[in-house]
Amino acid sequence: MLCRWLIFLTCLSASLSAAATECCGKGAQNKRARAPRATSPEQTLRDARLLAIQKVILKQLGYRRPPNVTRSQVSEAEKKKMLRLYEMSLEETSESRESVEHEELSTAKTFHSFPATDELPQEVSAEDWDNGLHKVRLYFQPDFPQIHHRHRHLRVANAKLKLYKSEIFPENLVKSTDGLVTLSFYQLLEPPRTGKTTLKRLIESRTTSVLQTGWEKIDVTATVQSWMTSPEKNYGIEVVCDHEPLNDVITFYGTNRDRDSEVRRPDETDDLDVLVPRLIVLTQEVRSPLRERRSSETEDCLVGDGETRCCRYPLYVNFTEIGWGDWIVAPEGFNAFYCDGSCPYRYKSANTHSLIKSTLHHLNPASPQPCCVAKRLSPLSVLNYDDSDTPQLVVTPLNDIVVDQCACT
Ligand SMILES: *[C@@H]1O[C@H](CO)[C@@H](O)[C@H](O)[C@H]1NC(C)=O
Ligand SMILES: *[C@@H]1O[C@H](CO)[C@@H](O)[C@H](O)[C@H]1NC(C)=O
Repeated sequence: MLCRWLIFLTCLSASLSAAATECCGKGAQNKRARAPRATSPEQTLRDARLLAIQKVILKQLGYRRPPNVTRSQVSEAEKKKMLRLYEMSLEETSESRESVEHEELSTAKTFHSFPATDELPQEVSAEDWDNGLHKVRLYFQPDFPQIHHRHRHLRVANAKLKLYKSEIFPENLVKSTDGLVTLSFYQLLEPPRTGKTTLKRLIESRTTSVLQTGWEKIDVTATVQSWMTSPEKNYGIEVVCDHEPLNDVITFYGTNRDRDSEVRRPDETDDLDVLVPRLIVLTQEVRSPLRERRSSETEDCLVGDGETRCCRYPLYVNFTEIGWGDWIVAPEGFNAFYCDGSCPYRYKSANTHSLIKSTLHHLNPASPQPCCVAKRLSPLSVLNYDDSDTPQLVVTPLNDIVVDQCACT
């Protein structure tokens, strides 16, 4: 998927530079054709790149078009509070990512299974927790072993949330005509309060059918990792259904005690306990090596600086400038970067396979040359209005959106 977008972006840039005959290795050509006018090929290419990034962002969010925020009821005071919380959550994620990035040595994985509990997160009352027919909230109390060693600690290798759609009521659908609905899974970042917006981070949005019972399995690795780092900030997970009344349409087993008696169980199951919402977690003990900085890897280029070989170039996406300032509250913009340039023999090979490809091209020019593409990407968290009927503020991680490093592959 990611690969396809990268190729799309690379191809887009190549097809826009006039003389390109192939997808890759020709990027340097556009730098020679510089013109100082506003509609220079460079400007056109930059606009196309920005447009491609916008399309990718909307696709990741699952929005067909940017949300219309005129119907939002979030007050200015609330917006300010959210912005503060968002900035705090940014600091935390950057800390936990750094500590994960620099670890290599790890031990075998340990399996844990935690069922949803009837307990409530701290600072949350039953009224504040259960309000609203349109969402389901789940609370887990993952309990991990303590490691008393200065250079060892535990991390989450993988975590899945399993939910069983035990009953479905397609006749209650309001808008969907094909039986498909969009479920969004959020990590609550603060205690929910009735009648107030709660800051939450989007874990995943997905389409599901309400014509069939069955499992939903959601990757919640980042969420469980953050609970492991800060257990006191575990306020649970919220499931909402965009544009449909969730509880009228789907029952997840174990989340609605009134209905669970008449559940349609899957054939192979006679133990209903396995249908209870559950976190399946794999943990791993890691040794923390000494920190090292990788400064030499990020030597960026600027358009027109004479470098024609594969390099990373800055590309600032200003949300106000692209007309998204109203629904993306923070940040103001971000540097997405892009990769461009040629890949001469043995230059910046990403891995052994790329080196073989490069050598093969050297020996036999009819075989394809390596392409200059992103080798490592990182996510960007934004605070944005969602596309519900009364847009709410949510924190959304946009995955693989910032190019960290370019290489020939
Ligand atoms: C946004 O919603 C408002 C109120 O429903 C409507 O008047 C306006 O035309 C919409 N704007 C867009 C761009 O769809
Ligand atoms: C983004 O663009 C707006 C409008 O052109 C401008 O006022 C603002 O300063 C820009 N922000 C940044 C960080 O460049």
